[in-house]
Amino acid sequence: MAGDFDVIVIGGGPGGYVAAIRAAQLGMRVACVEKRPTLGGTCLNIGCIPSKALLQSSEKFAEANHAFAAHGVKLSGVALDLPTMMARKDKVVAANTSGVDYLFRKHKIERVSGAAAFTAPGEISVDRKTTMKAKSLIIATGSESMELPGVPVDEKTILSSTGALSLGAVPKHLVVVGGGYIGLEMGSVWSRLGAEVTVVEFLDRIVPNMDGETGAALHKVLAKQGLQFRLSTKVAAAKPGKGGVTLSLEPASGGAAQELKADAVLVAIGRRPYTDGLGLEKAGVVRDNKGRVTVDKRFATNVPGIYAIGDVIAGPMLAHKASEEGVALAEILAGQHGQVNYDAIPAVIYTAPEVASVGRSEEELKAAGLAYKTGKFPFSANARARANGETEGFVKVLADAAADRVLGVHIIGPDAGTMIAECVTAMEFGASAEDIGRICHAHPTLNEAVKEAALAVGGEAIHI
Ligand code: FAD
Ligand code: NAI
Repeated sequence: MAGDFDVIVIGGGPGGYVAAIRAAQLGMRVACVEKRPTLGGTCLNIGCIPSKALLQSSEKFAEANHAFAAHGVKLSGVALDLPTMMARKDKVVAANTSGVDYLFRKHKIERVSGAAAFTAPGEISVDRKTTMKAKSLIIATGSESMELPGVPVDEKTILSSTGALSLGAVPKHLVVVGGGYIGLEMGSVWSRLGAEVTVVEFLDRIVPNMDGETGAALHKVLAKQGLQFRLSTKVAAAKPGKGGVTLSLEPASGGAAQELKADAVLVAIGRRPYTDGLGLEKAGVVRDNKGRVTVDKRFATNVPGIYAIGDVIAGPMLAHKASEEGVALAEILAGQHGQVNYDAIPAVIYTAPEVASVGRSEEELKAAGLAYKTGKFPFSANARARANGETEGFVKVLADAAADRVLGVHIIGPDAGTMIAECVTAMEFGASAEDIGRICHAHPTLNEAVKEAALAVGGEAIHI
């Protein structure tokens, strides 16, 4: 196979498989090496897709239990069939991963099964056997869960996100360590299915990087749903025993320890770049102090012909960020001008209500010393949200005080993840708040709350 390919991609996740497809579209001969039995990486196999399948199913269960009655729909005998829910999730995953196989066949991408390792610059081995060479090699090996000292994951009672996606029974008490994306999404799933859920967060707030007011609103709504929070608290140790785990909790700033018993513990304290066994040192590829592969604006590492994208490099660990980088890099390799606008990458937490944001938070604008104006509009004043019976949350638009250019949008509310796309588009086109406010939005839609929040920046909202 030596010299047969223009590009070899290592890793078939949303970064790698998208880079492979785009490179093939642009006429390159492409191979993708993946060590998992199925394509799609963390996202499709053990991340975005299975978690969203369970979020959807558990939300239906919660609605059947708590929301239908208010609509005049009487149900009785609502019961959880967890094996069916899990089987559906597995089916959704399989449909998505085999979809990537189809796309590879369609684009004549050579799929190579096995673990890739650099043997020299420009050369890899697969499973220490076959040697492959290409003009360009793309590292898209993703990330893995971070471990918490003293709380070793066994995927039975002490779980990573992967274990939490496949529990065979609803735990009576689930303790989630880490109040970030995974903790809140998976905590919501198991809480809706009947578990008592306690989230232990080291810092004094959940989702620390989120706009503060929006994060506080999410905390309040999740607490109302029954999730319990222990903020400014650390887990010092975990002792698995018969039928559960005993955790030792301490104040983050130090002090007396307290015991907390759990049937299961989910450790979700962040992810780190994954380069195990890749032989980066053999190729001479440099990493930063967090283990991320160092790249320039064109995704080039320090070694000519070796590039990196996705979770394994700096930036938010999000599937769509990885994919955008994959497209941009393939275009660069084809001599085009691929690029990613890191100022307009949306982020969504798929709780109920969802939280979605793009651009900067109020805290970031303050820290940067930028003068800004705020426009806010609550869903309680939106006709469609009222008709739907989902009035929790708001849209907040942050705009430059002088130029009115939109600098950030933060939404907590029904379908926020879909609604944010309008705001991303607006920011990509350099829109002002007034621009969004003057766009005609269909009535009655949830998106009218975006328009009204934009109008509110200039004090001109109509419905509040
Ligand atoms: P990955 O998807 O991790 O893919 C890397 C691939 O490389 C893996 O398949 C791995 O097996 C393979 N690989 C590694 N080393 C080698 C080697 N040496 N040889 C061959 N193959 C190798 N992001 C979102 O945007 N939205 C979400 O809703 C979302 N939900 C998530 C839920 C969970 C529970 C988790 C854990 C993550 C979630 N993410 C979500 C994050 C998202 O999964 C990642 O940002 C995304 O998968 C990164 O893509 P990637 O291509 O860089 O890496
Ligand atoms: P995270 O970074 O989102 O959250 C980790 C949380 O754990 C933070 O609040 C942090 O302060 C806290 N923490 C750190 N150390 C701790 C300790 N010792 N004790 C208690 N709390 C501690 O990481 P998470 O939730 O593991 O997710 C990893 C990444 O995966 C996310 O950052 C995101 O990039 C991606 N992801 C994206 C999703 C989405 O887009 N909807 C869903 C799930 C994951």
